[in-house]
Amino acid sequence: MAFTHEKIETNVGLLILLIVITVSVGGLAQIVPLFFMHSTTEPVEGLKPYSALRLTGRDIYVREGCYLCHSQMIRPFRAETERYGHYSLAGEFVYDHPFQWGSKRTGPDLARVGGRYSDEWHRVHLIDPRAVVPESVMPGFPWLAETPADASSIKKKMEVMRMLGSPYTDEEIANAPKELEGKTELDALIAYLQGLGTAVKTRR
Ligand code: HEC
Repeated sequence: MAFTHEKIETNVGLLILLIVITVSVGGLAQIVPLFFMHSTTEPVEGLKPYSALRLTGRDIYVREGCYLCHSQMIRPFRAETERYGHYSLAGEFVYDHPFQWGSKRTGPDLARVGGRYSDEWHRVHLIDPRAVVPESVMPGFPWLAETPADASSIKKKMEVMRMLGSPYTDEEIANAPKELEGKTELDALIAYLQGLGTAVKTRR
């Protein structure tokens, strides 16, 4: 036989080349279609880009490392949907740059925590988790209540988000600093949490 497996296996260069081709075909077949499917690239109905206050809260969420203990991705398994609600849809995250899916769950998933508790509950919980959940191992974040929300960079942030695909109007960007007037970082973080996962109607 002119071209045998032995020939491939004894020629490292050829072996590497053929492995790369084989792996690429599998990878491309799985990944490329996702860029063209509406269900992964279009926002779900009712999803709005983050308001100035929520976008600020989101940055605090990232800065404080909440993602180190909380995921934001409900998997399509019964144990998860019974506990958290409808499984997460790709279209819910199109305005998330970067997304906060995560995989570490020291605490519960937060993908649909919006509306589950009152603002006041979050306020008490974030300042001192053990005041409402005695067995909690979550750290408190009391300084957020005393730190004013940073309005100096919000316009720039929204402009960058617009470049990445969040459809903000010029007016929304111009009014952004006003939306943060008198707000603390805690207000912003709570506004962010209260919107999480609320675009999709869930049966819970
Ligand atoms: C060291 C891990 C850890 C970190 C960091 C952490 N949490 Fe938690 N979180 C937990 C645990 C454990 C619970 C469950 C007990 C409780 O409710 O306090 C929890 C619960 C919550 C809940 C209630 C969820 C529910 O469905 O009952 C919210 C909201 C929350 N955390 C938000 C945050 C935010 C926002 C941050 C960042 C500012 C944060 N957490 C940082 C561990 C953590």
